[in-house]
Amino acid sequence: MIVLGIETSCDETAAAVVDSDRRILSNVVLSQIDDHRPFGGVVPEVAARAHMEHTDHVIAEALEKAGVAFADLDCIAATAGPGLIGGVLVGAMSAKAIALATGKPFVAVNHLEGHALTVRLTDDVAFPYLLLLVSGGHCQLLIVEGVGRYKRLGTTIDDAAGEAFDKTAKMLGLGYPGGPLIEKAAEGGDPKKFNFPRPMKGRPGCDFSFSGLKTSVRRATETLEGTLEETVSDLAASFQTAVAETLVARTRNAVDMARASHPDIETLVVAGGVAANKAIGVALSDLAAQTGMRLVKPAPALCTDNGAMIAWAGLERFRLGQTDPLDFKARPRWPLDPDAPAAAFAGVKA
Ligand code: KG4
Ligand code: ZN
Repeated sequence: MIVLGIETSCDETAAAVVDSDRRILSNVVLSQIDDHRPFGGVVPEVAARAHMEHTDHVIAEALEKAGVAFADLDCIAATAGPGLIGGVLVGAMSAKAIALATGKPFVAVNHLEGHALTVRLTDDVAFPYLLLLVSGGHCQLLIVEGVGRYKRLGTTIDDAAGEAFDKTAKMLGLGYPGGPLIEKAAEGGDPKKFNFPRPMKGRPGCDFSFSGLKTSVRRATETLEGTLEETVSDLAASFQTAVAETLVARTRNAVDMARASHPDIETLVVAGGVAANKAIGVALSDLAAQTGMRLVKPAPALCTDNGAMIAWAGLERFRLGQTDPLDFKARPRWPLDPDAPAAAFAGVKA
């Protein structure tokens, strides 16, 4: 089976071709960072227009690099939500148009399911597994029971982990995109210099909260003794460690919760853009070693948004006979576990 996947839900225009032997035949990612940098963050209208301009040639490049034509494809998959709706519409409409013109099936992929299933493309991972999904828009712990079958154990009641990185980077004058810039600034910094809070650590359950941590960083910047430039690497390192320790503490609780309902669970997967962070990866490896779980983390380029994860999730659904009609409506919100109870005190993002 050969599947084309299209991803346009945020600030990457991406297309890829994967096959059922778990080979990535091509994976083209066009970042819009330069378009958004002057604004200090992703501007939805700018993103939608850039997707309009680039989606068709990114798809053409993905097919060419893979050495396949439309006729060789078994189905066309595209992110149909959740995400910035203007961009989602561009990718989903492109996929529907190709499906209509070629007579091939269309698969509407949940972007979060793309992140969730990436490890089954890159590694031998069987269901069920515990997933820490940490991206710009989401911060959740889920049990992945199968394709389309998720049990959410916890979620953020305010900011997502990536959002905390992005907002903190802005406060520290590091710019956009925040995650990689904080990681870089943290190199050589003293992670113990600032004693930032580890929100929710020690509390039962595995919901997250990052807004208090963000406020603490702001206060620290307002009461600095030296200049921000002198202290930025210590601030970045201390913040990054606080996030890593928070993620570990909540994931530790999730391991216990997951084992209680699924005694056979043995794999911990971390996915989403924040999973590209090395310090967080190391902290989670330690947790895995302590709890006897196997940690699986996709390569950084497959943690951040890409077309291969969408093609793969499309392939997983297609081989189970799950395709979607061409009038499938794009969804700005699309939870993986719609039955999960809302987190206590949750804002709209949960
Ligand atoms: O999964 P993703 O590419 O897009 C969403 O679906 O949101 O995640 C993007 C998020 C951004 O908030 C970005 O700052 C964060 O992932 N990120 C990182 C790193 N690389 C990307 N955060 C921490 N460290 C990194 N190296
Ligand atoms: Zn994503």
